This record gives sequence, C-alpha cells and structure tokens, in this order.
Amino acid sequence: MMTFQRPARSKTAGGDAPALGDTLTVDGVSVRLGGREVLHDVRFAIKPGEFVGLIGSNGAGKTTLLRVILGLLPPSAGKVRVSAAGIGYVPQKIQLDPDMPLRARDLVGLGLDGQRFGIPLPSRARRKRVDEMLRAVGAEHIGSARVGNLSGGEQQRILIAHALISRPGLLLLDEPLANLDIASEQEVVALLGRIAKEQQIAVLISAHEMNPLLPFMDRVVYLAAGRAASGPADEVVRSEVLSELYGRHVDVIHVHGRVLVVAGRGDGLEIPLEHTGAHADGA
Ligand SMILES: Nc1ncnc2c1ncn2[C@@H]1O[C@H](COP(=O)(O)OP(=O)(O)O)[C@@H](O)[C@H]1O
Ligand SMILES: [Mg+2]
Repeated sequence: MMTFQRPARSKTAGGDAPALGDTLTVDGVSVRLGGREVLHDVRFAIKPGEFVGLIGSNGAGKTTLLRVILGLLPPSAGKVRVSAAGIGYVPQKIQLDPDMPLRARDLVGLGLDGQRFGIPLPSRARRKRVDEMLRAVGAEHIGSARVGNLSGGEQQRILIAHALISRPGLLLLDEPLANLDIASEQEVVALLGRIAKEQQIAVLISAHEMNPLLPFMDRVVYLAAGRAASGPADEVVRSEVLSELYGRHVDVIHVHGRVLVVAGRGDGLEIPLEHTGAHADGA
C-alpha cells in the first residue's frame, strides 16, 4: 500500500510538542544501517502548503529518511512528528506491467482501501472521488486506459492521484522525476506545486537533480555526507554552506538559469556532484 497511517502517538506535555502549525517535524534524526551512520542529526520542519525538495546524490540517504518519516525504519536517535492524520507516499521506481489488467481509475481507487476499516465508501461516492482525483492531476482523459500502457509522466500523475485520494496532510514522493522526459518533469513538478498550495498539503519530494524543482520549491533539504542543510534554495545552495556540508570545497555555478554543484579539483576538471551519483565522502 502507498498510503500510511503512522501509529497514533501518545500526547506528551511540555517541550515535546511540535512547533505550532508544522505538519512534519524531523528533529535530530540519525540512522545507522549496516554499522554505518547513514544520517546524522537531520532536522527540518514542513508546514501545510509547503513544497520542499529533498536533494542529494545517489546514496545520500533520501529513501532512508523517507522510510523513517513513514515509520518503517526506527531512527537511532531523534524523533519524527507528523501532525497529519495520513501520509500519502509515492515510492521510488514502480514498474507497472503493460499486461496487468488494471485501469488507471482502478489504481487511483485502490488508494481508498486499506485504511478505513469496515466502512467502505458507497460505489457512487467512490466513483465521484476517483473522478475528482483524476481531474485534480489532469488525467481525466486516461482514466480508462491500462496503467501499463501509459507514458512515464501519465503513470506519475496516476500514482500521485492514488496517494492523494485518502486526503493525507503530508505527501512524500521518492524520485518521481527519475525516467521522465523534460516536458513531463516540468508538468509533474508544476502539478505538485499547485496541489500543495490548493489543498494545503505539505509535500516532500526527493530528487538527485534540483533544477527541475527550483521554480516551484519553497525550500530545500540538501543531504550530503549524512547531514542536512535546509532553508530557501538561495540560502542553502551556496558554496560556503555546501562546502561545510560535504566537508570539502564545492562550487555552486549558475549557468543558463541552471544551478550546478561541482567539486573543484583544481585541474580544470570539475565533477558535477548531483548527476554522477558521486558519493559525498569522495570514495
Ligand atoms: N538496509 C541497508 N543496510 C545497509 N546499508 C543500507 C541499507 N539501506 C540503505 N543503505 C545505505 O544507506 C545509504 C543511503 O541509501 P538511500 O537512502 O537508499 O540513498 P538515496 O535514496 O539517497 O539514494 C547508502 O549508502 C546505502 O548503501
Ligand atoms: Mg533512493
């Protein structure tokens, strides 16, 4: 299932309360996997309606952090607080078999199941909700198509509708732009930015490339070397901040409206850190 209900947390008094109005608070989260600290003291918060990019190269810990937020992986230190009732989740790399006899609207409707035990929506109300969601993601014309026959961008829209139909207050997407062409990439990002604002949902989207997100992203959480820097992109994506994070000198280069983060080697050969999947520790 792609919609998660975190276990209800007991109310705690005093200093443990989340900051007023935050949908998600990640508070000093560290994670150890295979004897290695993959994330160290990660902290940030997201409010309703905010569209936040979780940026980092391959292996930076994006999926790990999303799994901690979903309650699937216990942190070794720190806490996650989610004030929303449900979390919508679009996992990384879903393969939809072209032969699977499942229509787009059936997949969207599945997002209503598996969470409200006992009282299923009557079929007419259910159909109406599915139609609403298909419209919300601009996919009303492909509702009856087999999911496996849809393009990558169309499949992402359907998966987003699936994750949103239960009306979660927090939406997590793990690299939804991977394998999309540039036009679909821009459409999906614009769609998510609009949904965040219109439905006042907190949206956290992971990506190894930040440029497609820049026009819509309210803030960035930049992961490198197991640590995170968060804030508005123009404050975080700067040579001083990222060099400190990576633990070595990196340059931030603005070229043709794009931002490139590169590790200068001093010999004229520069390595783009986001595209190669180069590990932040320089290994
Ligand atoms: N179950 C695991 N056991 C040990 N190491 C893991 C496990 N899962 C992920 N890792 C390691 O944690 C790091 C972060 O992985 P991941 O969160 O998948 O990164 P990303 O999603 O940013 O590509 C990687 O170095 C990966 O090899
Ligand atoms: Mg990942």
